[in-house]
Amino acid sequence: MNERPLHLRAARRTDLEGIVALDAIRAGRPKPDYWARILRAFSAGGGREGRVALVAVNDERRVMGFVFGEVRAWEFGSERCGWIFAIAVHPACERRGLATRLCAEVTRRFAREGVTLVRTMVRRNHIPLLSLFRSLGFVAGPFSELERRVEAPPEAVPVAGAGAHRERSA
Ligand SMILES: CC(C)(COP(=O)(O)OP(=O)(O)OC[C@H]1O[C@@H](n2cnc3c(N)ncnc32)[C@H](O)[C@@H]1OP(=O)(O)O)[C@@H](O)C(=O)NCCC(=O)NCCS
Repeated sequence: MNERPLHLRAARRTDLEGIVALDAIRAGRPKPDYWARILRAFSAGGGREGRVALVAVNDERRVMGFVFGEVRAWEFGSERCGWIFAIAVHPACERRGLATRLCAEVTRRFAREGVTLVRTMVRRNHIPLLSLFRSLGFVAGPFSELERRVEAPPEAVPVAGAGAHRERSA
């Protein structure tokens, strides 16, 4: 167990293995292709302002925590705000304020971009994540996620006069 303070820095492409390993511990399965794509897009800003990718590393340069966020505008009608879309801390470092530090730093970077609102999405039964965000002052926002299972590709129906097709909806 590492007792020295972890070092927070921008994620690099060489962190891929460490991020995949930590995510696999937390999420239950490795997703190397997903993280390779995210890291390409987010490391060193990915060439786009408002993208934040941070890792917390120990003395052995092992990734013990990460956070990914992005400033987005007008998706789903949402005003320009910062989104935290992934955060994880290694079980060996739990409850020592690391996620709090990661969130504070990503929020600081959002604020530098002029953002005054931060959003995230959490599975309703994920008590640790819900508790973390509640402890940081997050409250329920104005949106509800909706979903519907699709068993087979929806039948295409002709759209009158358009010569095009539209998908039949629910
Ligand atoms: C949720 C998580 C990020 C918390 O990380 P952490 O570094 O332990 O969090 P912190 O130490 O900053 O905790 C801050 C506060 O959050 C709350 N909290 C954190 N973990 C909690 C838990 N397991 N149960 C209840 N509350 C919790 C507490 O209020 C805590 O303050 P306290 O320790 O003074 O009581 C970490 O448990 C984790 O990575 N879980 C898995 C996340 C995941 O599934 N990610 C998917 C991959 S993107």
